[in-house]
Amino acid sequence: MATDDAMPARPMPRFPDGFLWGVSTSAHQIEGAAGLRGPSVWDAFTAEPGRVKDGSTADVACDHYHRYREDVALLADLGVDAYRFSVSWPRVDSPGGLDFYDRLVDALCAAGVRPVPTLFHWDLPAGLDWLERDTAARFAEYVSVVAGRLGDRVGKWITLNEPAEHTLLGHALGVHAPGRKLLFDALPAAHHQLLAHGLAVRALRAAGATDVGIANSHGPVWPASDDPADREAAEFYDLLLNRMFADPVLTGRYPEGIGELMPGSPGQVAADLEIIGEPLDWYGVNYYAPTRVGAPQGAEIEFGGVTLPAELPFSVREIEGRPLTDFGWPVVPEGLTELLTGFRDRYGDRLPPVVITENGCSYEGLDDRDRIAYLDGHVRALHRAMEAGVDVRGYFVWSLLDNFEWAEGYARRFGLVHVDFTTLERTPKASYGWFRDLVRHGR
Ligand code: FCB
Repeated sequence: MATDDAMPARPMPRFPDGFLWGVSTSAHQIEGAAGLRGPSVWDAFTAEPGRVKDGSTADVACDHYHRYREDVALLADLGVDAYRFSVSWPRVDSPGGLDFYDRLVDALCAAGVRPVPTLFHWDLPAGLDWLERDTAARFAEYVSVVAGRLGDRVGKWITLNEPAEHTLLGHALGVHAPGRKLLFDALPAAHHQLLAHGLAVRALRAAGATDVGIANSHGPVWPASDDPADREAAEFYDLLLNRMFADPVLTGRYPEGIGELMPGSPGQVAADLEIIGEPLDWYGVNYYAPTRVGAPQGAEIEFGGVTLPAELPFSVREIEGRPLTDFGWPVVPEGLTELLTGFRDRYGDRLPPVVITENGCSYEGLDDRDRIAYLDGHVRALHRAMEAGVDVRGYFVWSLLDNFEWAEGYARRFGLVHVDFTTLERTPKASYGWFRDLVRHGR
């Protein structure tokens, strides 16, 4: 499928030498082999009728556990510098579980692809709970075990994936595992994940790691209008999405008014923030789209497959006049430039070099020109942020493979490679060829 006519006509600007081109996946979404690991909160959630839209499970998913050699061959052929995958904590807790990551890392190194593991991408072992403080300490123990085993071949580490989404979707709104609808009572899950992040950074440093980051989801928040009520609601949403998880990690402080809501005495929260603010070598940004936010409208809102309850102090509005992906997310490449320059302005010297750890879109079909257009626009928008002085060191496409898209099941296809979920056959899409050309020419 690597046809040159898939290449958009305008020449791509040059990226600096050493810029890291990669693709991302996560364990629960691709591995399958559920019988060869302990259960996670996602297994229990998926088993409840109605939780996953197409009624599917991730028991087999892409069967990457058994087919990882084929997938590493795809990565090698794609020519990416790096592969971001996640390590499944419930698998590591099972006999022989870590052996799988040993084999995967060996195969990646042999193929000349840098392994970039994420240590937590939402598949918490069943029986653990982010509302419990102790989960953070348990995470650090698990991280030490993984680092002890893989640290001789892995340089670049990611502690957590999107604690904001895991808190919001999993604990506040109940549309992801563990399915809790706690609204603002979900905040302890945020604090404990952040503490887990800080403890993991320390555990990785103790194991000799010198290249450590986190993958947080961010996007510009646009007020629905100039009306002060809309502006205030948008500011609050910005605080939840963009500041609550970045401020403590980058500055060692919560935004005003948030620290008081976190579990523990003020002294304890202050001590935790010392750990959470451990300096990072780089900061990972997952970007998909901006959000338009206004004052509450006193009614439930359906948005991007999620029902937002009426009692929230904001409402999410449509972004009009933009193409939409199959997921209904608006395509706004310049949102990435705005986000990154805004981050640089907000955090200044506190912001380490940035890596885009996820960016992508869901579209059907093998001749996925919409995906090429999406990725092309976002890579150019990224370059504009770099021209404006933001230090960006890498870009990872979500995702290598079509996979289990959480509560959406297999209905949303984000892959550069198509997966037939009956035969498990992999077929590179047109976008795979486009990205291969980009990586080659980008160098
Ligand atoms: C991100 C998740 C990733 C995938 C993409 C589409 O929020 O980190 O696992 O679901 O969205």
